[in-house]
Amino acid sequence: MGKRFVVTGGSRGIGAAVVRLALAEGADVVFGYRRNADAARELCEGMAKAHPERICAALPVDVSDQDGVAGFAEGALEALGSIDVLVNNAGISRSSAFAGMPRGEWDELVETNLGGLFNTTQPLVLPMVKQRGGAVINLSSVVGLHGSAMQVGYSTTKAGIIGFTKALSKEISGFGVTVNAVAPGLIETDMTAVIPEEHREIVRARIPTGRFGTPEDVAHTICFLASDRARYITGQVIEIAGGLVL
Ligand SMILES: NC(=O)c1ccc[n+]([C@@H]2O[C@H](COP(=O)([O-])OP(=O)(O)OC[C@H]3O[C@@H](n4cnc5c(N)ncnc54)[C@H](OP(=O)(O)O)[C@@H]3O)[C@@H](O)[C@H]2O)c1
Repeated sequence: MGKRFVVTGGSRGIGAAVVRLALAEGADVVFGYRRNADAARELCEGMAKAHPERICAALPVDVSDQDGVAGFAEGALEALGSIDVLVNNAGISRSSAFAGMPRGEWDELVETNLGGLFNTTQPLVLPMVKQRGGAVINLSSVVGLHGSAMQVGYSTTKAGIIGFTKALSKEISGFGVTVNAVAPGLIETDMTAVIPEEHREIVRARIPTGRFGTPEDVAHTICFLASDRARYITGQVIEIAGGLVL
């Protein structure tokens, strides 16, 4: 593949699967993490052993902190030389009935899931526009397309990511930079491990493929969208949900 990837939230879950697959396909990768320095270090050490000829580096960053992200972007560009693929993966989910949702929960979701998208994309998309080539892949969700009860705040941010994707695609695809989103269904990660078992059974019954997704299921689509094979795809939202209909 030979692409240079920057992945936010690469220490765990879907982000870590993207890091592993991109390196396996011949990419160089810088990824961000917020708190899990040990997981990030272990992933880098494992990747250095598996792919000694490739770059894999982890940098701490809170995507909701614009100044911090500016430093992260500089560090990533320094390590990679430039960037071909940005995967805006870092995100949080919260669950509560809207009637009682604390305003702070709404703000935290907006600042991380949408503020983070702004903070990360702005400094990292410019080098791709200047070099007339690149791919931005944003993590939305099926709840951004269809909505989910008890997740008004999270659903709102994931729907906003779709608007961002479509608008930015119109702005920069003419410079050779594609912008797409993926909308995963229920994927087995720490984010969904907190869902009570009885609710998981209700959701599982609605998935025609009969199982939750794996981080690798999502990573394969992301790496396809990052590749030259997807160069005529832009402004799209691809559901990766095993057929789940909410
Ligand atoms: N799992 C699903 O079913 C599912 C479905 C649809 C969409 N998604 C979306 O896919 C993305 C990844 O989800 P996941 O399930 O892999 O999540 P996860 O297992 O909870 O991992 C979240 C990742 O994001 C990082 N992160 C969280 N807040 C951050 C912040 N403020 N600044 C920088 N990094 C931050 C975490 O870093 P640390 O490890 O350092 O904390 C971690 O690497 C999210 O955008 C999520 O909304 C997930």
